[in-house]
Order: sequence, then C-alpha cells, then structure tokens
Amino acid sequence: MNARLDLPFPPMPLALTAPELVDFQRVRERAMQSLFESLENLCEGTIVVDRDSRIVWINDRYVKRFGFATPEDAIGKKVEEVIPNTLMGEVVRSGKPILLDILEAEPMPFVVTRLPLKDDAGEVIGAVGFALYDKLQPLQPLYGRLSRLQQELAQAQKKLAEERRAKYTFSNFVGISPAAMELKRQGRRAARLDTTVLLLGETGTGKELVAHAIHAASDRADKPFVGVNVAAIPDTLLETEFFGAAPGAYTGVDKKGRIGKFELAHGGTLFLDEIGDMPPTLQAKLLRALQEQEVEPVGSNRVIKVDVRIIAATSVDLAKRVADGRFRSDLYYRLNVLSLTVPPLRQRLEDLPMLSEHILENIAQRTGLPHRELDASAIELLRRSPWPGNIRELRNALEQATLLSDHLRLSAADFASLAPAAEPVPGAADTSGTAAPLAPQDIPNYGEAIADFERQLIRQALAACAGKVPEAAQRLGLGRATLYKKIAALGIGTGGSAAA
Ligand SMILES: Nc1ncnc2c1ncn2[C@@H]1O[C@H](COP(=O)(O)OP(=O)(O)O)[C@@H](O)[C@H]1O
Ligand SMILES: [Mg+2]
Repeated sequence: MNARLDLPFPPMPLALTAPELVDFQRVRERAMQSLFESLENLCEGTIVVDRDSRIVWINDRYVKRFGFATPEDAIGKKVEEVIPNTLMGEVVRSGKPILLDILEAEPMPFVVTRLPLKDDAGEVIGAVGFALYDKLQPLQPLYGRLSRLQQELAQAQKKLAEERRAKYTFSNFVGISPAAMELKRQGRRAARLDTTVLLLGETGTGKELVAHAIHAASDRADKPFVGVNVAAIPDTLLETEFFGAAPGAYTGVDKKGRIGKFELAHGGTLFLDEIGDMPPTLQAKLLRALQEQEVEPVGSNRVIKVDVRIIAATSVDLAKRVADGRFRSDLYYRLNVLSLTVPPLRQRLEDLPMLSEHILENIAQRTGLPHRELDASAIELLRRSPWPGNIRELRNALEQATLLSDHLRLSAADFASLAPAAEPVPGAADTSGTAAPLAPQDIPNYGEAIADFERQLIRQALAACAGKVPEAAQRLGLGRATLYKKIAALGIGTGGSAAA
C-alpha cells in the first residue's frame, strides 16, 4: 500500500546536504526565489510596480495581452494605463496583499494574486502581481456563476432604479375643473422650489399622485423617489425603515444591516404618507433629521449626510393633532412650509366623466376585459354619490361594475351597490345581525328582496370565479344544475364562454 501524502509541489530532495540549504536565511531566499520562478513560469503574467505604481517590470506574454508589443513599451507607465481595472495601486497604497481576485479582461478574465513589496525597514516600495490565466479552466463554472450573478444584480438594480423614478406627472392628474387646474398650477410652482411640501386632503383624492408629479417636475426628477407609508408600518419598525440599521443592530435585522429610506432617497425626494400617524418619539428624530440633514442608523454611531426633499401627506387634520398634543408643533411648522390641498371629488364633480373614462380605460388595459362606457344614467348616479373615499372609491366602483356586469355600456343599474336606498336589500350584506332600523313603508317585499340578494350573491360568485358556473356552484355549495336554473330564472348573464 502506498501511504504517501500527495503534496501539491514536488517532494523535497531527501539529501539536505546542498551547501545553500544549510543556514536558515539562505533556505528562505532559495524558497522565495524558487517560488517566484515557478510562479513566473506557470503564470500568464508577472508584473512589478514601484511605489508610484509605475511598471518596473512586466513579462512578455502579459504585456502582449494588453496590446503592447514589448515590455519596454509599458515600463515606466502607470499600471492603470496598461492594465485597466488593476488593483496594484491599491496594494501599494494599503500595503496589504490581495491574495486571490478576478481581474476582468478580454477575452477571458485572469485569476490574480497581488503582494506588496517591502524594503528591509518594512516600508512598501512597490508590489508584485501574478496573473494565472491558463489555470482558469477549472474555475470556469464558478466564473460563469459569478457573471450570471453580476448580470442579475445589474438587472435588479436597473429595475429598482426604474421603480424609484416617479410614476406620474401632472399630465396624469386628470381634471380640468377650476379646483383641479388650480392644484396643478400650485403643484408645478412647488416643484420649482426645493422646499418641503405638505399635501393635505381626504383619502383617495390623489395626494400620492401629486407627490410623484411634483418630484417629476422638479430638478430632482432623475434622482430617486422613495415613499414610506407611516400608517402601514408598525411603530417599532419605523425608525429602522427611516434611518436604517447597523449590521446586527438587533435580532431581525439582517446581518448586513439595512439601508434607511432617507439614504435611499439621497439626492431625490422622500414621500412621507400619512405623517399624522407618526409616533411621538419618532417625530423628534424626524425633526432632527430634517434640521441637520443627516441620519444615524439604529445601533451605529455613524451619521450619514443626506440631501432629500421631503413631501409629506396627511388625510387627518394635522393642526388639530397639534392642538391635541398628539403631533409636535415644531415638526408641524417644519413640514408646513408650503401646503397644497388636494380637493375632494365632490368639489370637482365636473371632472367625474373624464376621470371615469380614464379609469375605465386603465381597468380594461389591466384586466384584458372589454372597455366599458358609462351611459347618462350611470353618470347621473355617480354624480349623486357622496364619494367619501374619493377617486379611490370611484375606481373601486368602476372596477366592481366591470367585473359584475356584461354590458359594454354601464348604466345606473350596474352600480347597484352605490345606491343602497334604490336597492331594497337592507341588511343583506350585514351578517352581524345589527341591521339598521327600517321605517314601515321601507320594508321590502320578502320575495323580491331575497331574489335581489340571490342575484347579487351569484353575480359576485361568478365574477370571483371568472364566470365559470361549475366552480361558482361548488363554492356556493349548490348543485351545478340548480345554479344554472337560478341564473336563468334571475336573468343573470354569466358573461363569456362559460354560459355556453
Ligand atoms: N386626478 C387624478 N387623475 C387620475 N387618477 C387619479 C387622480 N387622483 C387620484 N387618482 C387615482 O386615485 C387613486 C388614489 O389616489 P392616491 O394618490 O393614492 O390618493 P391619496 O394618496 O390621496 O389617498 C389612485 O389609483 C390614483 O391613481
Ligand atoms: Mg394615500
């Protein structure tokens, strides 16, 4: 049996009697010389630079790879001029070796080793580099993976950058009513000034859209737009969300730490939605960040300078929160430099047909369903609705009608859920058992009310099952035949192929 160890280099000759191998200093010198010579023979490239990173020596093969005819053409030049992407200069500056690295080069990268050269006093006087090229073959799979990862990273970064760009401009703010025009005028003016903007207005009026538009019309347009919805993030996570966290700051933060939104928005705009919901401790920290234009990641004692424009929005009465002591007045004044009020839908009802048209087109595009129009009765009904949820509610109503009705021209009847008084289904949707009290004359006919309820339920089930009767029947716990009969009796269109 052969129990010999497989050494990566030829075994030492057993006769250690050669005179130059007797004293330690000479052994060391021999070893170094032999190491250098072996590497030089094995390697595609060897290079030595001085303390100014100028090439003092380079071998023939290597210099040719970078388009020079002879070593003499490269000697005396800065190493970066000959080898793009090299880190030899870095090794000279830091005095630290880079034992293994990949140097990008055409047509194939090199695996390289770079070592500092020091004089007897330990001063760095230059660096030596070895480039393995022929030996890269076994590393090919690894390198392939690395390039794939690099590509994926570049793509992800590009996608993120696109996402951080503003999605909307003022031309996306549909409306020509005086209230809408005035808002757009003020918004464009605010965009030119680089101040903090406070957007006021009920929920669903388009504050977020306006924030995007202000950013897009500002000098920061090609920098990131980053949004944080204060109301949507638990209080305990908000600080990290805003300011970031140092690596291992607390359990739950990934090992690498986390970048805060302030830092992400650097150079651009930070949109703070529902600012009124900010917990008091964080209000103080936010105020400091705004005043100092710097942030301190959680668990670090590092401050980071940031340059961000703040646009804050609130759907609650912030002045009242200040009066109640729930919102710091100093922060309020800091935010309220320039305020814009986005009007509620009921104050610009003349925009309703145009807005609906725009939203219906958007729904058709998104869902692939045919584009719907509104007839006069539908517009009349929509005009009479109070719209507490504003344009967001309008969008929901239009979406629901599109899903529940087959008509290409939607009429008032297709918006049954909007007109509770006209639709005698009291308490039908209310399963809590606490139906509102009814006046005697409002009590509906039992049979009609049940039929209405059934009709609505079946329509909803069909819409949820993309019009597939068998699936809707199963979900409803009905036989398929029973459901078909009910559909016919109640005059419900199933829409599309499923009816066949
Ligand atoms: N003027 C407008 N034109 C077109 N769509 C609008 C307009 N205002 C709001 N919307 C739409 O209404 C919805 C709610 O708007 P959003 O900006 O989120 O409101 P807010 O932030 O005030 O709650 C979004 O889908 C938005 O695209
Ligand atoms: Mg909002």
